[in-house]
Amino acid sequence: MEVERVQTLASHGKLHELPSHYIRPAHERPENSEALEGVKVPVISLSQPRELLVKEIFEASKEWGFFVIKDHGVSPDLIKKVQAVGVEFFDQPQEIKEKNSNDPSKGAFEGYGTKMIKQDDQKVEWVDYYFHLMAPPSKVNHDVWPQNTTYREVTEEYNKEVLRLQDEIFRLLSEGLGLEKETLRTHMGGDDIEVEMKINMYPPCPQPELALGVEPHTGMSALTVLVPNDVLGLQCWKDGNWISVDYFPDGIYIHVGDQIEVLSNGMYKSILHRSLVNKEKTRMSWAVFCVPPGQKTVGPLPELVNEENPAKYTAKTFDEYRYRKINKLPQ
Ligand code: SIN
Repeated sequence: MEVERVQTLASHGKLHELPSHYIRPAHERPENSEALEGVKVPVISLSQPRELLVKEIFEASKEWGFFVIKDHGVSPDLIKKVQAVGVEFFDQPQEIKEKNSNDPSKGAFEGYGTKMIKQDDQKVEWVDYYFHLMAPPSKVNHDVWPQNTTYREVTEEYNKEVLRLQDEIFRLLSEGLGLEKETLRTHMGGDDIEVEMKINMYPPCPQPELALGVEPHTGMSALTVLVPNDVLGLQCWKDGNWISVDYFPDGIYIHVGDQIEVLSNGMYKSILHRSLVNKEKTRMSWAVFCVPPGQKTVGPLPELVNEENPAKYTAKTFDEYRYRKINKLPQ
């Protein structure tokens, strides 16, 4: 089935008005929901005394569910290469990209994709993407990865770094809750944690004040490890306002997701966020989702539940959680 790609629509250059399915409902439009000026998101150096670091990560995860890390040890050169091979994929001729297209209707989620309209009144996001698993090795299928030049070599290298950061952030978050260091990682599935790469490609949009690249949502993952390009767009919801996230060269943006909110019984917050698009420039982001395996049951940790603080969430497998979230059913 032929899919209307956002990049193709945008590249015609003659598009002055958005097709109606990209126009958000009035209350969601950026023109009606502008970000608050002057609020800065937490930026945390990983290279500081442990006690201070645990405290900063705890505060940011409790108050925001979002922070940017610096001094994280991932080489800026590697991040540039990850971005370059992603850009290279989207720069290829359309017929080459289509060879890697996914088909969610058949359960084939990995590959090149664009959200499709299923109902006439449905609104979609101004984004094309590439989605594939990076870990664990037993679940990775390199045939569904982009096939361009050094994509695999670079992405495998990046995956090692993401796993290192993911494990370290789980440790810091566990320590902040007064738990054994490995607690959160173990409850997320340990070595079976699934690591998914989603490259978001938001082409220039003729009416960015009416559209969204990604609609407001909290991540269903445990953590999202994100690097954007230098085009602004990410916004986080904090105390009733949208807050624009600045661009931090060499920064890595960490979103706390739903699974950590559930495990921590609400002590840590899953951040509500959205992304805006730009009239002239292509925005891109590389979002890595760290999720438990589908059969893993996730619920509030018994250590964090007591009479004064009863369980706020129902335990369920991640498969069930995901099904309910996608189908907008109560959790
Ligand atoms: C996402 O939430 O998946 C992407 C956010 C962004 O592009 O900054």
